Amino acid sequence: MPDLLLGQTLTFTADPFETGEAAARHDPHGAILVEDGRIAEMGTATDLRARNPAARVHDYGRAVLSAGFVDAHIHFPQTAIIASWGKRLIDWLNTYTFPEEMRFADADYARRIAARTFDLTLANGTTTLCSYATIHPESVDAFFTEAQARGLRALAGKTCMDRNAPEGLRDTAQSAYDDSKRLLERWHGTDRLSYVITPRFSPTSTPEQLAALGALWAEYPDCLMQTHLSEQLDEIAWVRDLFPQARDYLDTYEAFGLLGAGAVFGHAIHLEPREKDRLAEMGAAVVHCPTSNSFIGSGLFDLAGLKGRMRVGLATDTGGGSSFSMLRTMAAAYEIAQLRGQAIHPAQLWWLATAGSAQALRLGDRIGTLAPGMEADVIAVDLASTPAIAQRAERAETLWEALFPTIMMGDDRAIRAVWAGGRDVTPAKAPPAPVRE
Ligand code: GUN
Ligand code: ZN
Repeated sequence: MPDLLLGQTLTFTADPFETGEAAARHDPHGAILVEDGRIAEMGTATDLRARNPAARVHDYGRAVLSAGFVDAHIHFPQTAIIASWGKRLIDWLNTYTFPEEMRFADADYARRIAARTFDLTLANGTTTLCSYATIHPESVDAFFTEAQARGLRALAGKTCMDRNAPEGLRDTAQSAYDDSKRLLERWHGTDRLSYVITPRFSPTSTPEQLAALGALWAEYPDCLMQTHLSEQLDEIAWVRDLFPQARDYLDTYEAFGLLGAGAVFGHAIHLEPREKDRLAEMGAAVVHCPTSNSFIGSGLFDLAGLKGRMRVGLATDTGGGSSFSMLRTMAAAYEIAQLRGQAIHPAQLWWLATAGSAQALRLGDRIGTLAPGMEADVIAVDLASTPAIAQRAERAETLWEALFPTIMMGDDRAIRAVWAGGRDVTPAKAPPAPVRE
């Protein structure tokens, strides 16, 4: 039996960085007909109710019905060390991250943290994660097993490191290739899952390992490749020492076949002009991780400078990021842009967290917007979830003015319902919507 979701539908038919508010489609009395995991129809509540009398109706009242959020860069193994105090990137990795990632040799622990990550992110309205795992193949199995059990579209890869990481957290060029290939063949294209070839970043891979992963990518060009690029100045200086022949940081990937249209680079804050030109030329994507960039003290991403030239996604980057919420992440993106003298419109923020991230992951034809044929990943967002938000939203004269207080001050309390692949997967905390047969 089809499901009919009622509320204020909000989606995009274009990119609001190009066409402004006109890119958005908003129906204050909208409806989404969901059947067999996909959106069958979009329309007005009156029309779709009349034409689908047998559908189960889920009435979300004044809540905004949007595509689920897409977090384009997260480290699920860092869930338990989010908000660890007082370090910058390299010290933070050595002090907090590497000891925690060591624990993922234990498959049970990996399963428990993967489950916890999905519980937390679904509660925040995120229906797709693109995650780094650890060097342990078990951690990839744990992530995909938990995603599969929930019916989620999800992406991840084994994080490869064969130097500058502690004993117990290093693979080799050959084992990184072999393990990645085996995991890719097992998971890529299974249900809604995609494997992503994942060298952590150039400082923790030898040239041999980068070359091996470049060769693997050439064998499976429809996979994405994800890594980190130019996050902190100390890191960039270190890369220069480790790769004296490279023209710049991006070149340490490019030289080994790790730059292409399916490449997704996290952070990309301190880019040289050549790097920007080359990313644009090759059709690669970059991912803005604003809470992480301020939490670890990395710098101010140049959204206005990069957005017109290349695909840009938005992400929490937890545990470097300080929140699981894409609402909080939009707020941080807004604040960082303000510090650069740029103002991001609420339509642009919402687009980045949905369609923009989906496009950065080359999944824009499946998730990130609401339209017939798209996979039914839908969230219902309450625009009056706390007294502070409600009293501000009450004064709003436009949708954007009503949405912005939730972007700036909202959290998981604003997420009233979550649908993934056409199923209601709302975590237990929220009261269910009334179901009328
Ligand atoms: N650079 C290399 N590894 C990491 C990581 O785990 N988090 C962040 N923020 N940056 C990195
Ligand atoms: Zn990261």
